[in-house]
Amino acid sequence: MNGVRHLYVHLPFCSHRCGYCDFVTVVGRTGDHDRYVDAILAELALERELLADELETVFVGGGTPTFMGAASLPRLLEALPAAAEVTVEANPETVTPALAALLRAVGVTRVSVGAQSFEPRLLRVLERIAQPDDVRRAVYALRDATFDNISLDLIYGIPGQSAADLERDLTAALALEPDHLSCYELEAKPGTRFTHTFGNELTRQADAMEGYFERVVERLTDAGYRWYETANFCRPGAPLGADDFRSRHNLAYWHGRDYLGIGIGAVSTVGGERWRNRPSLPRYLSAVLTGARPPRESERLLAIVRERERVMLGLRLDEPLAVDSVQSTLDRDALRRLEGLGLARTGASTLALTERGRFLGDAVTAELLA
Ligand SMILES: C[S@@+](CC[C@H](N)C(=O)[O-])C[C@H]1O[C@@H](n2cnc3c(N)ncnc32)[C@H](O)[C@@H]1O
Ligand code: SF4
Repeated sequence: MNGVRHLYVHLPFCSHRCGYCDFVTVVGRTGDHDRYVDAILAELALERELLADELETVFVGGGTPTFMGAASLPRLLEALPAAAEVTVEANPETVTPALAALLRAVGVTRVSVGAQSFEPRLLRVLERIAQPDDVRRAVYALRDATFDNISLDLIYGIPGQSAADLERDLTAALALEPDHLSCYELEAKPGTRFTHTFGNELTRQADAMEGYFERVVERLTDAGYRWYETANFCRPGAPLGADDFRSRHNLAYWHGRDYLGIGIGAVSTVGGERWRNRPSLPRYLSAVLTGARPPRESERLLAIVRERERVMLGLRLDEPLAVDSVQSTLDRDALRRLEGLGLARTGASTLALTERGRFLGDAVTAELLA
């Protein structure tokens, strides 16, 4: 059987909750870290037959995976299946030289560091713990531990962030020569403390964000990075044994591949079915540690839903999308109109957005969907 080749593991623990974040997180609870590792491994054993013998990618995300104790995290990483790309998300203040060496020793190939900004005033607005020097120290420690695939996350559109602040953030990030960069526009997630405080300000500044996005793309492509996905950039070149510095795990999502997600709140898409583990830690632990599947919601995905997702995700990439498999979702009149406007282009059997189309992004894609 062709099994799933992409595995996501969710480690929800954080030392504190940043106001803008609506990911499934659990603050503190250090006493539960070890039991959670046991539960992750138990859930993985329950689903093992879904996985291929050889995995392409494993992504350990959070939460703050590197907030887990120096014993729990390596124990988990050592027990996970091997893969060509193994990514761990790390918060800068948690990355010591010892942790970096440890991650390397247990087979991690890629570390994604959440920098967000290099401006202390803006880091305070985001309620981040790490200071700019923590980000620098983390990257140096990872390089010293011989990591040759380091990604930095940046956020732009932070309330109070001027165009000059953004330029300084990009300069500071580029100075660290990351292999990969993810640059996200700050989203006001419903129900967060942050949206309550700054929601109106984010609405007021929305128009300026198009210019910020263009500046991000311009600065990073001028510096030689490939704008390979709407919010993602990578240095050209090839780390040993891989095609390039694109995130192979995230590419799997954007290409519409199947993936298995383990842990609270994790989502899986396998063989036309999608399920999401419920976010409750106590319920997850008590179910999985007694041999049962965790409480989850699942849905059967109609072919048309998958096709629409394929278009929405595929057109975020800088490579053309094969149209054969998505014919029935495309509005041919809209496509001709968008081609005429220079926002989309078609090949013999492919479709892509032009650079202008990519700046407008989801709005163009929405028009294309019948
Ligand atoms: C799942 S988070 C976890 C990463 C890690 N715990 C950290 O805080 O750096 C992954 C990334 O999502 C982005 N992110 C989280 N909330 C966001 C929001 N409201 N708007 C835009 N980006 C967000 C941040 O850049 C973050 O690094
Ligand atoms: S942004 Fe990262 S560190 Fe902050 S609460 Fe979310 S997952 Fe935790």
